[in-house]
Amino acid sequence: MTEAWREANRANWDERVAVHLRSYDLAPLRAGRGQLTPIETAELEDVAGKRILHLQCHIGSDTLALAQMGAEVTGLDFSAPAIEAARALAAEIGVAARFVVSDIYAAPEALPEPASFDLVYTTWGTICWLPDIAGWARVIAHFLKPGGALYFADAHPAALVFDDDVAGPVGFPGWFTPYFDTAPLIQDDTRDYSDATARLSAMRTYQYIHPLGAIVSALIDAGLRLAFLHEHPAVAWRMFLALERSADGMYRWQDKPWLPLSVSLMARRPA
Ligand SMILES: C[S@@+](CC[C@H](N)C(=O)[O-])C[C@H]1O[C@@H](n2cnc3c(N)ncnc32)[C@H](O)[C@@H]1O
Repeated sequence: MTEAWREANRANWDERVAVHLRSYDLAPLRAGRGQLTPIETAELEDVAGKRILHLQCHIGSDTLALAQMGAEVTGLDFSAPAIEAARALAAEIGVAARFVVSDIYAAPEALPEPASFDLVYTTWGTICWLPDIAGWARVIAHFLKPGGALYFADAHPAALVFDDDVAGPVGFPGWFTPYFDTAPLIQDDTRDYSDATARLSAMRTYQYIHPLGAIVSALIDAGLRLAFLHEHPAVAWRMFLALERSADGMYRWQDKPWLPLSVSLMARRPA
């Protein structure tokens, strides 16, 4: 597996680990009360006692928050430094969780536990890194127990067509890329979203916009049934400079809810 997209993205994510260990707010987690966003808190059922697979777990902050809520969690990510950091964080705060290094598409081989999870959880900055949305959905279905569910929350694909690097109407991001463009967005960008002072040397990334219909259809084709799909005028990070941080930690448009910023859904494998 030496495709250019994978090698470039992995080098980029490997380098971000040290940056995020400094810039992510891990204080609540260290204090024993790791939190998810208000969107997830409102939509996720009680996770206590559930067997959860967290795909693209990064440095394990959300994985460990779920473990602190009583879940038995396995975090999976293709970045070895990210998984090393997640294991170190788990040991530091004394929370049990299992972490696996694997590309998402190789997860069925790396983690030979088909049909064994109550919940597959994957949120905030995930599928934009994956070229094959149908393959992503098949991996999720592979790991779910009959009756188990996927919970997904991420940037709304309609918002991803805009970017602050392109001039838009005054105070707004501009049109950046077509919604239905299937080619990867190949960018060289030294910046990091959580630390304005960071400069990355592994700067090339391959990203993908998966239209909402493609995401839902991929899950249906993989055998899952949609339980809900919610569009939100709020997102977990400052996606655009025009957004303002609200008291709940989410970012919203300042005046009107112009465009959905995030989407969340639950889809179940039939019992
Ligand atoms: C934005 S982060 C995950 C989001 C998480 N909510 C966070 O902020 O901690 C994206 C993660 O996806 C992982 N990733 C990207 N492409 C992957 C792939 N093909 N297989 C497995 N993990 C991948 C990266 O290593 C990174 O840790």
